[in-house]
Amino acid sequence: MSVRRLAAENLQPATFAFSKDNLPWVETQIAKYPVGRQASAVIPLLWQAQKQNAYWLPRVAIEHVADLLNMPYMRVLEVATFYTMFNLEPVGKYFIQLCGTTPCRLRGAGDIVKVCETRIGAQNQITADGNFSWLEVECLGACCNAPMVQINDDYYEDLTPENFNMLLDNLAEGNPVKTGPQNGRKSSEPENDVKTLSDGNLFDGSAIGAWKKNFEERRQKSEGAKAAIVAAANIAGAAAAKQTQATSPSAQVSRAPVATPTATNQVKPVEADKPSSLNGDAGKK
Ligand code: FES
Repeated sequence: MSVRRLAAENLQPATFAFSKDNLPWVETQIAKYPVGRQASAVIPLLWQAQKQNAYWLPRVAIEHVADLLNMPYMRVLEVATFYTMFNLEPVGKYFIQLCGTTPCRLRGAGDIVKVCETRIGAQNQITADGNFSWLEVECLGACCNAPMVQINDDYYEDLTPENFNMLLDNLAEGNPVKTGPQNGRKSSEPENDVKTLSDGNLFDGSAIGAWKKNFEERRQKSEGAKAAIVAAANIAGAAAAKQTQATSPSAQVSRAPVATPTATNQVKPVEADKPSSLNGDAGKK
């Protein structure tokens, strides 16, 4: 970025004050901020001063804003020289800011630059009739309608050398001009072969509420699916619990029949003092 300085002394006016028309607006801006914070209004005030002074800020306007906001001159000068939206030198009645960033370049900004150079001259040079000056700037946020320029407060988009020349002719002659796209587009819709938003139902009111219904149906579907998952999980859990119970040793033990002594299976106690039959036989031998 180049160094930004105030215009040469011979271009500086002797005085500046907000006009009767602008003063109430200025006071409203200042009143928006709490007492002691009026400096917050510095950018709107500088912007209004620039508009009042043919779109450029002389030293006296910067000082006038500083006085109104009770700020040191240097603080306001810092703001004015920092932001490129403030012009520090005179500009043409129609000040053209031409976007030279990549999307605009790829879409023909170079040809628009040539028109400016041919009709107006070098950047920052004002035409003899005072009508035009131009400056190449960075992206102005209208890339989908590239190439484009800003002239004073308005955007002019979808430019070609032909429609741009016509635009400059009309401005110079004081004819009404159309802002925005210059190729017949309404905004930034596809230039041809429209493939989106082509359903007439979208624009006849019949779609109102359709999305709400659609969302409601989707919600119900999703809740049904969730409930099915929960039910399936419950069934699987119950089956697993049953299986575990069936195979657990403790369960087998607990469910095994308890042996009860009966007349036939009762074990007879061994009598210690009576020899077994083997011992008895041996004794006989
Ligand atoms: S690149 Fe030109 S407007 Fe964004």
